[in-house]
Amino acid sequence: MLSRIDQITNDINSFTANTAADLEAYRLKYLSKKGILSELFDDFKTIPSEQKKETGQRLNLLKQAAQEKYNSFKSLLSENEEKASGQDLSRPSFPNQYGSRHPISIVRNEIIDIFTRIGFIVSEGPEIENDDHVFTRLNFAPEHPARDMQDTFYISRASAEDSSPDDMLLRTHTSSVQVRVMQSKKPPIRTISPGRVFRNEAISARAHCIFHQVEGLYIDENVSFADLKQTLLFFSREMFGQGTEIRLRPSYFPFTEPSAEMDVSCKICGGKGCNVCKYTGWLEVLGCGMVHPNVLEACNIDSKKYTGFAFGMGIERLAMLKYQVNDLRLYFENDIRFLDQFKTAF
Ligand code: DAH
Repeated sequence: MLSRIDQITNDINSFTANTAADLEAYRLKYLSKKGILSELFDDFKTIPSEQKKETGQRLNLLKQAAQEKYNSFKSLLSENEEKASGQDLSRPSFPNQYGSRHPISIVRNEIIDIFTRIGFIVSEGPEIENDDHVFTRLNFAPEHPARDMQDTFYISRASAEDSSPDDMLLRTHTSSVQVRVMQSKKPPIRTISPGRVFRNEAISARAHCIFHQVEGLYIDENVSFADLKQTLLFFSREMFGQGTEIRLRPSYFPFTEPSAEMDVSCKICGGKGCNVCKYTGWLEVLGCGMVHPNVLEACNIDSKKYTGFAFGMGIERLAMLKYQVNDLRLYFENDIRFLDQFKTAF
């Protein structure tokens, strides 16, 4: 038996496989259930016991060598196969193709992040709204031009001439969410409402019929204009950098009194004047004011006890300032060559 083992050991040592078929023939011949090795192990049972020790050891070494030979050819052949196919199948799947966040989402998340740090919560309302939430309870006079068909997309209208609180429309601003929040919650209220809004505008580099706003609302006892100003200063410095200055210009909105528009110092030129800020050193960013008592009362909040401030900003406007992308249409076309450039942003 020992000489048989020697002979098979020699055969195995000199074996080479050029193809997977060669290797499979080898496996069947030596390693399979009906192969030579299992035959030898059967014979082993019949040999005299004094030969068992040495023969057993030799047999085990042979089995090991046979298996190792098989393993090494197996991996060699699969490597060759990969090379032939031009692929490295062991290569990690890198670089992964990551998507990127849309710039509007990036800016919206940044705004949410800043306001939630100072205690604001996020609330949302429907895009398809009624006149009551978008205009009437926000103190818009019945003949206010914003209610005009030329500005507002109506879905259903009771009368072509006069508006009614039940008219259904696409909201023209996120201020409608203010009304919903005030109707459903008691002060103190501290909330921001990001969302899509719709206006009947011809699409150009500077205007679009769909865009995004973030509305802010804070109502409690003794809320003052100073609170509004300080909140907006905090926001502006977090958003545009710590050196940023703000200025408030008097303005008019039906739902706030007094009302203001806020500018931030131009971060491109540091306030010296450049083409981005049209050589004024300032960039207009948002509208704001103290919530009109009529609005509080229309939403069942006691205007003698409570005061509040509100503000509203356009996300596209902030994205334009942040990324210096000055054609609004780019934010809606979803051209992958544009979106790809925001991969490094969070
Ligand atoms: N709703 C206004 C707009 O769409 C923005 C706005 C201005 C919202 C002043 C406010 C505010 O809450 O106080 O232009």
